[in-house]
Amino acid sequence: MYEILLKQDLVPNIHLLKVAAPAVAKKAQPGQFVVVRTDERGERIPLTIADWDEEEGSVTVVFMEVGTTTRKLAQLKAGDFIANFVGPLGLPSHIEKLGTVVCVGGCYGIASMMPIARAMREAGNKVISIIEARSKYLLFWQERLRSVSDQLIITTGDGSYAAKGWVNERLKEIVDGGDKVDLVVANGCTYMMMLCAETTRPFGIKTIVHLNPIMVDGTGMCGCCRVAVGGETKFACVDGPEFDGHQVDWDLLLARRGIYLGEEIQSLQAWECQNWCKSR
Ligand SMILES: Cc1cc2nc3c(=O)[nH]c(=O)nc-3n(C[C@H](O)[C@H](O)[C@H](O)COP(=O)(O)OP(=O)(O)OC[C@H]3O[C@@H](n4cnc5c(N)ncnc54)[C@H](O)[C@@H]3O)c2cc1C
Ligand code: FES
Repeated sequence: MYEILLKQDLVPNIHLLKVAAPAVAKKAQPGQFVVVRTDERGERIPLTIADWDEEEGSVTVVFMEVGTTTRKLAQLKAGDFIANFVGPLGLPSHIEKLGTVVCVGGCYGIASMMPIARAMREAGNKVISIIEARSKYLLFWQERLRSVSDQLIITTGDGSYAAKGWVNERLKEIVDGGDKVDLVVANGCTYMMMLCAETTRPFGIKTIVHLNPIMVDGTGMCGCCRVAVGGETKFACVDGPEFDGHQVDWDLLLARRGIYLGEEIQSLQAWECQNWCKSR
């Protein structure tokens, strides 16, 4: 069992858990993830390692409430335990000195991007971070990201803070501006990453995306995380999750992510009804 050392509600639907997991903390690298199971009867879900502290033996994950498991996780508090916390999994991000690297994050991807931006800067790159939220009240970790970036650009869907619009629009302004960009790294919702890849494609700027297909074991055995990249079948858990965004078959990824939608809704409905009954 893994003890929760800290629980923070970063914004209404995005939460942070710091978990005691010394073995994971010892080996974690930017871009890797853990597979979490809340309890004996829970499903396994992958969450990116947002930070870690080897000395403390802790690993931090940041997650968005979207369905049953993330709702269950959101109800936990410091001192509670979770059944499984397996990792670090996946290939680490490829970190090297390239010149200018643009790190793009949205939703939970704002936190997932943090270790990558930090490592890219430590490697000697100029790091420009761009983050988005639907509205000002959904933004988090601006200062943390600013501290590891040469420039932080914030954009909100409703224009309630900084520029109005989405990360791909800010990215387009940068590449249109003519400044040399050597690499773009994007992490967040699938659609956002796809738009970023389409923005850079005409400019031939290499764009790495962190794919988030449905995963079960996270170790290459179930085949659930199958994606197509450059016409080849890959398993995101062991061949990724980082891939070249210009080579990804986005239609297949979007379709496969939605295959259990009916079951996901049923599961959430059953769990919420059970909770509602208990609370009466
Ligand atoms: C490598 C990787 C890293 C990720 N990192 C984070 C993170 O740091 N923070 C975060 O909030 N989310 C992250 N995700 C997505 C997260 O795993 C899903 O949101 C979560 O599994 C949803 O579970 P649920 O039961 O709450 O919702 P469900 O009702 O199961 O699903 C709701 C939505 O989540 C997607 N989903 C469902 N199960 C999975 C699964 N096992 N893997 C991936 N997507 C799934 C579905 O397509 C659906 O759109 C990551 C996914 C991957 C593959
Ligand atoms: S999650 Fe099972 S093969 Fe990738």
